[in-house]
Amino acid sequence: MYQEVAWFISLASIAVIAAVFGLVIAGSSKRIDYREIQSRGYSWRKRLFLALVAAGIPITGWTLVDLPYGAHQEQGPDAVHVKATGYQWYWKLETSSAKAGQAVVFHVETADVTHGFGIYDESMRLLAQTQAMPGYTNKLVYTFDQPGTYQILCLEYCGVAHHQMMAEFTVEAAN
Ligand code: CUA
Repeated sequence: MYQEVAWFISLASIAVIAAVFGLVIAGSSKRIDYREIQSRGYSWRKRLFLALVAAGIPITGWTLVDLPYGAHQEQGPDAVHVKATGYQWYWKLETSSAKAGQAVVFHVETADVTHGFGIYDESMRLLAQTQAMPGYTNKLVYTFDQPGTYQILCLEYCGVAHHQMMAEFTVEAAN
């Protein structure tokens, strides 16, 4: 589905670019005074630049409001804290289960190289991720809405058995 949309957008973009080339070729035999085109082009460039500045400043401010992103994650007093450590090539989870609806705070670390900590649902859809970085503890808060068995996969190539770095996290139904 997404690939079809991407394919269609690509085709449409190619058609637009081809049309622009066609227009340029069609008009290339016409001779016009260069300075007139230049001054029109410069005036458009100035307007475009001012519009970008005018839009860019508030948009930049707006996208930075939530920084640092992790600080606003909901935890609640009944959150489960899970220390997750990456090793070449396995995950060690101090706790590997939680209840649905309960916030889980993963404290992600590594014992050796950088790993990627990715949580997947049963249909292998990525739900949340962070990095396991030497010397840091990265906090990832996630609330599982559905009971089930979730997979934790490594998202950063970390050596020959990188693909085997998998762990399970079980979410039980809420009482
Ligand atoms: Cu750990 Cu890839």
